[in-house]
Amino acid sequence: MKIIAGPASQLLASKVAQQLNTPPTICDYKRFPDGELYTRIRDDSIDDVTIIQSTPTDSDYVALLQLIDACEEAPTINVVIPYMGYARQDKVFNRGEPVSARAIGRTINADRVFTVNIHERSILEHFNADSFDLDASHLIGNHIRSLNLTDPLIISPDVGALELAKSASADIGIPYEQLEKTRHSGESVTIAEKEIDVSGRDLILLDDMIATGGTMAESIRMLKEQGAADIYVACIHPVLARNAVVRLYNAGVKEIISTDTLEKPQSSISVAPLIADTLKSL
Ligand code: R5P
Repeated sequence: MKIIAGPASQLLASKVAQQLNTPPTICDYKRFPDGELYTRIRDDSIDDVTIIQSTPTDSDYVALLQLIDACEEAPTINVVIPYMGYARQDKVFNRGEPVSARAIGRTINADRVFTVNIHERSILEHFNADSFDLDASHLIGNHIRSLNLTDPLIISPDVGALELAKSASADIGIPYEQLEKTRHSGESVTIAEKEIDVSGRDLILLDDMIATGGTMAESIRMLKEQGAADIYVACIHPVLARNAVVRLYNAGVKEIISTDTLEKPQSSISVAPLIADTLKSL
């Protein structure tokens, strides 16, 4: 099987290929003078392919479509989208809006699509493919266990992240709690006051993604006021837009922990074994 590394998932795809004992296929990505994207796979042998490409930007999404098209003659096309952009617009919140996740999903034609802890599982129905969501929560759980924390507690900042917190906590026997978030805009959230026994304890705030950092920063502030010791934030998808990293350190975070569904300096946990094991089992 050929492993094709999209421009947004070069290292992750290379690690997956390494675990499958196959060299990743070399591809070229550049821009035409007018700004359009040029993509070329430098191997025209006909074989099953797995394309690994996150889509944090519109350009990454176009590259994914180009790669799928370039593999048209492959007997089997697997597409791994470790982080899928637009997944948070999974429904119409205000009249006149698109279901962006559906608009994107419908354009992905493949034999199989794999996502990793996708924001909302119903999005899987939109792909023109058999689709599966891989769960990286146990990888986060194992990392948390290795931190040697004092009387730790995992906290989900909203109900949406509760399943993730439960799952990570079940693996390692650390209790979990949940906060209540209200979103006012893309950048502004409030976290309802909640008395939790956090005094002197190390906390791990866990969410599927950190975007502007607003959710985590507000949570950290409240929990610090209640006497928490070290506060770590952990997520599957480190979007970390704009000044999110500084916002989190300004709020007093000890460390930002994430996977490499998006390749950032904070991506200390690799989902490569999860993807490689899944591909091996096909
Ligand atoms: C939303 O439902 C997600 O699970 C995250 O809580 C959200 O995307 C975090 O966004 P931000 O970092 O901008 O507060």
